[in-house]
Amino acid sequence: MPRKAAKSAAGGRPLAELLGSLPCPTGLLCARAGSATDVVAATAMWVSYDPVIVAVYLKPGSTAHRLVNEGRHFTFNVADEAQNAAALKAGSIKGGDAGKLAKVGVTLVPGSVPSPRVAGAAASYDCRVLKVAACGDHDLFLGLVTDWTVRAGGKPVVRFGGASCGVGKALPGPSVSYPH
Ligand SMILES: Cc1cc2nc3c(=O)[nH]c(=O)nc-3n(C[C@H](O)[C@H](O)[C@H](O)COP(=O)(O)O)c2cc1C
Repeated sequence: MPRKAAKSAAGGRPLAELLGSLPCPTGLLCARAGSATDVVAATAMWVSYDPVIVAVYLKPGSTAHRLVNEGRHFTFNVADEAQNAAALKAGSIKGGDAGKLAKVGVTLVPGSVPSPRVAGAAASYDCRVLKVAACGDHDLFLGLVTDWTVRAGGKPVVRFGGASCGVGKALPGPSVSYPH
């Protein structure tokens, strides 16, 4: 059913055109349960400022989905431009590949939840799972941000039009600050 709805919403045109028209941050999501750790490419958005809550969506059946469900925590690490290649590897190497972490090649460091952070990320959020909701072909995970770091000079990567992009120039306009 959800797949059919997505197709008709795209008017029969390629779904990639629709999905690629909405810029989304690229993140490295780390999940750990027991002795198993996975790092995948994923996107996220804010859903609450106070408390700070972030939403991610994960595919049922994937390793990251299983680990977040079991461990009830994850870190979302905003990929820095220098980590774009690693993020794309994390998003294409199967979670069941025993050599995945070595192939992705990022350095994992401890945070305030058992899931590790990715060193060098533009920002890292430590999250505890608040809620999980079935949502089309993915499940929505709401993560309460319990601690975070933002790296000075970090350069976040954005996914747009099927490509990884740097953040563009600021446009003129009235200043609007958070929370709004
Ligand atoms: C740029 C990019 C963004 C991605 N975003 C998501 C995402 O938001 N949610 C998700 O479940 N998978 C996403 N993926 C796929 C995962 O990173 C990963 O490949 C998948 O979880 C591996 O599944 P497996 O454990 O079944 O091998 C993305 C992949 C790429 C390349």
